[in-house]
Amino acid sequence: MASRLCFTFTILLMSLSCLPCQAQLSSTFYDRTCPSALSTIRGAISAAVSREQRMAASLIRLHFHDCFVRGCDGSVLLDDTSSMNGEKNSLSNANSLRGFDVIENVKVGGPSWAVKLGRRDCLTASRDLADQNLPRFTNSLSELTSSFSSKNLNQRDLVAPLGWSTYIGQAKCFSFRDRVNSNASDIDPELARSLREDLPCPADGSGNANLAPFDALTPNTFDNSYFRNLVDRKGLIP
Ligand code: HEM
Repeated sequence: MASRLCFTFTILLMSLSCLPCQAQLSSTFYDRTCPSALSTIRGAISAAVSREQRMAASLIRLHFHDCFVRGCDGSVLLDDTSSMNGEKNSLSNANSLRGFDVIENVKVGGPSWAVKLGRRDCLTASRDLADQNLPRFTNSLSELTSSFSSKNLNQRDLVAPLGWSTYIGQAKCFSFRDRVNSNASDIDPELARSLREDLPCPADGSGNANLAPFDALTPNTFDNSYFRNLVDRKGLIP
């Protein structure tokens, strides 16, 4: 029962905000109505991350993709129905967004930092809005900047979370195939060769699901090498 009541709270744990509901948010929102919510969520997340470290990154992304489409309302969790194309199968999410199983198997634990709670769960979801709102690896910098700016977020808000959230994350060959096969000038030729031949992510379209770390230099270490890699032309996706 606790898991049914609390499963959508997990997605609220991190701090992107939903402006229309902010006035009613509070870090003690569930203290009376669902006192074990936060401990339940922390336990489930700790267990999932100790099973697979990358899950920390996957959950941050799941949360980001929920919040970027009409706010942090859990809409990304909804399955398609006969009358609704939800967000799970949108361009940026299909076969890529992960962590749904963690959210559905919440069991025991506690929070690690105070987050204002109380956002209402959404009853509907929209694939069209997800396709329009979520960033794609094919977007230009000016498209990304204006997408973030439409949500009152600036370039700093765009760049900083990329560095701290991708230090542990991975991307599929699908999203960097063109980059490593096109002799692009903004990628280190040795990195491109290794992703083509060792991974492999060749031009023939095979290996779509093969994964590479965003931070090839020091994967799984929380440091600034994501940004240093970019300066050295060792970024993974365009
Ligand atoms: C703004 C432009 C962005 C673009 C174009 C972008 C694109 C992508 C792509 C293509 C992937 C790989 C997905 C796959 O291969 O399945 C990815 C993964 C990831 N993204 Fe983004 N992203 C952006 C912003 C962000 C932001 C702001 C955050 C943090 C809030 C974030 C967090 C992550 C994380 C943690 C992963 C790794 C997920 C995992 O390993 O499961 N991204 N992103």
